[in-house]
Amino acid sequence: MPSVKEIFETMEYGPAPESSEFVDAWLEKHGRRFGHFINGRFVDGGSTFEVINPANKSTIAVVSQGTATGVDQAVQAAAAAFDNWRHLSGHQRARYLYAIARQIQKHSRFFAVLETIDNGKPIRETRDIDIPLAARHFYHHAGWAQLATEVFEKYCPLGVCGQIIPWNFPLLMLAWKVAPALAAGNTVVLKPAEFTPLTALLFAEITQQIGLPPGVFNLVTGDGHTGEALVEHPGVTKIAFTGSTEVGRIIRQKTAGSGKKLSLELGGKSPFVVFDDADLDSVIEGVVDAIWFNQGQVCCAGSRLLIQESIAEVMYSKLRHRMENLRVGNPLDKAIDIGAIVAPVQLQKIESLVQQGINEGATCWQPGWAVPTEGLFYPPTLFTNVEPAGTLAQVEIFGPVLVAMTFRTPAEAVELANNTPYGLAASVWTENVNLALDIAPKIKAGVVWVNCTNVFDAASGFGGYRESGFGREGGVEGMYEYLRPNWEQQLTEADDSGFEPRAEPGVNAGNAGSFDVASGVSDDRAKSENVAIDRTPKLYIGGKQARPDSGYSYPVFDPAGKYRGEAGLGNRKDIRNAVEGAVKAGGWPKSTAHLRAQILFYIAENLQVRAREFTDRLIGDSGYAPDLAEREVAATIERTFYYASWTDKYDGRVHQTPFRNVTLAMPEPWGVLGIVCPETNPLLGFMSLVLPAVAMGNTVVAVPSSRYPFAATDLYQVFDTSDLPDGVINIVTGNQLELAKVLAQHLEVAALWFFGKKSGSEMAERESAGNLKATWVTYGKARDWFAPEQSQGEEFLRHATQVKNIWVPYGE
Ligand code: NAI
Repeated sequence: MPSVKEIFETMEYGPAPESSEFVDAWLEKHGRRFGHFINGRFVDGGSTFEVINPANKSTIAVVSQGTATGVDQAVQAAAAAFDNWRHLSGHQRARYLYAIARQIQKHSRFFAVLETIDNGKPIRETRDIDIPLAARHFYHHAGWAQLATEVFEKYCPLGVCGQIIPWNFPLLMLAWKVAPALAAGNTVVLKPAEFTPLTALLFAEITQQIGLPPGVFNLVTGDGHTGEALVEHPGVTKIAFTGSTEVGRIIRQKTAGSGKKLSLELGGKSPFVVFDDADLDSVIEGVVDAIWFNQGQVCCAGSRLLIQESIAEVMYSKLRHRMENLRVGNPLDKAIDIGAIVAPVQLQKIESLVQQGINEGATCWQPGWAVPTEGLFYPPTLFTNVEPAGTLAQVEIFGPVLVAMTFRTPAEAVELANNTPYGLAASVWTENVNLALDIAPKIKAGVVWVNCTNVFDAASGFGGYRESGFGREGGVEGMYEYLRPNWEQQLTEADDSGFEPRAEPGVNAGNAGSFDVASGVSDDRAKSENVAIDRTPKLYIGGKQARPDSGYSYPVFDPAGKYRGEAGLGNRKDIRNAVEGAVKAGGWPKSTAHLRAQILFYIAENLQVRAREFTDRLIGDSGYAPDLAEREVAATIERTFYYASWTDKYDGRVHQTPFRNVTLAMPEPWGVLGIVCPETNPLLGFMSLVLPAVAMGNTVVAVPSSRYPFAATDLYQVFDTSDLPDGVINIVTGNQLELAKVLAQHLEVAALWFFGKKSGSEMAERESAGNLKATWVTYGKARDWFAPEQSQGEEFLRHATQVKNIWVPYGE
């Protein structure tokens, strides 16, 4: 009789196919042909294209290729439905979302089979992960709809949301986008990916069944051109996109200046870091989940395996053994690990990147067995001997290809982990919780899984750092992507009267009498008893005053045209130096919140000491009435206290995810933040922006009001006497548009706030597409810097941080 060990070694799996009978019948009922879903009903969408089952290359159905006209009809339907939908009570909206969740649950296997046929992913995954998670998202967001008026009392919905999703998790990505949008009171036009539109069409039917008001959810199928039409439609107020970084960048450029709110969930090359004390058998199963889940077509796939050198060979051999035992084949078979690649073009992309890796000298290993030939299959693949800068280590392959590298020390692991432009997710494997929690904050990623991987939940935000995009989906973080402050609609246009600083030596002659250039004080003012002790207003870079690289200065006048002095005309080089100064102040984000609070309080104290001087400055430069100037200085001191107070109080959450996990949502600073300040309120406006940024641990390159720059340049000595470390705040005066452009294009600037001229908002958003900076711009609207709701608070702190979710499992 064979031993149990022998049985385990020889045991073959029998076929365990899931039937597609019901799904086939549904497809037949529709004549295997679908139009768009607009205003609550299916409409003919004109020309069509075929949807293919990647497991056998058969045609499943034909769907419509959406045109600009189709998109326009859908947007109009969504716009018409918006008013009623937003004014339903939260409870009424919650009922609809709850009904959707229940309907998905009731038909979960139907959805799972359809998804598997359409996408090629194993039924095991669609059944156990995609569909239950999609239902969970609607449950969770039914809750947000119910609570919206209480929790988001000061916020309102945006309008029509254009949502563009990829093919790797078709229904789940729909749920991630549609659920929060509807919960917040928006209406939706969704464009699914051209390869995988079918579960979205089934979802549309479900919205009909539950009686969702027509126009609240609309669906236009089609390819990238359809997506483009949606992005460009003027009736759309928000674009939510998940897909490639390349298209994300295009969308960033196309929407620049339009005022459309944007969230981008893009590609990744996520590290899977294994320390030598990790439980290696768990690690191996983790790797299987990380890179062979959904054939590796996962934005957060752990595609870079970073192993501590001492255990590398053991790991490779365990991994090869496990890979030999993976099963690739018919995704409808319940005992299949890896299904089909979504489309021929994706398979070719994988093949060509693998070949490139081989050409670059990396070692390729694949299991001994062959994959089925009738469909689009690719074997699990392991690369070793990979150069950290090589193609395989840098480019998102989006296939079942794992790239392994080694490290020696934790510091080296972090360096390797951060060595791509992406920052979506990371896994850290070690039995040492201290080490894990030391590494997690150092990795630049929106999600860090400790001793687990690819865990998702509606209660936790998901989204990237760096070129993996911005914005979060899920949890309270995700809700804000679909809301805006109530008062925003009442804002008026800022005074955009076109002041351009120009270098003009000698312009003071005849304008304000003689002028002492060295001290910057005109002689008539020097004789006055209220004179402030003036300073030579250079730039402020790395904690030092620096002359502008250009060697130019520009004259500054008060509103009556009286000459007030000269400010440095900063240029590209000055911004670069300032960014370098800000990068060097890297100790600031790591400093304790208590230290940052102390320094901010100290700044307030020193501002108070000089209150008279700043008041005079505002009276003299900006022509303020004395009481207004005093009010601005007092408000600035109070605001400094305000952010000193928030420093150690704006902290994270522990999300209620339904696993044995603590899910820590940690607000982290961006790094170097560029801030272009308003032309008006040169002191209060400047500090209202710079303070929340530095309070949260960012280092800042600020461009002050170009019309009235001296209130900001007077701050150097306040900063110097308040123990502010060098380089935490850098100030470059000059032409705001020119300087903002350099900031927008600079790859080491992680985020950009533009509160200057209207035309600058468009430029700031467009030019920031290079490294996909998160931007916060005003579109030329003026804020009231004295009104607390507009000028301070959580909105500022939220923009000053990005949330990292760290998942730490517990239990045996
Ligand atoms: P893609 O980014 O082109 O497509 C994603 C969605 O955007 C689809 O619905 C597509 O129709 C739409 N789209 C394409 N061009 C558009 C445009 N100019 N304007 C508006 N919408 C547009 O991704 P694709 O071509 O399907 O895959 C290419 C590569 O992208 C993959 O190999 C993978 O590396 C990456 N990718 C990343 C995903 C992620 O979740 N991070 C998802 C899908 C793909």
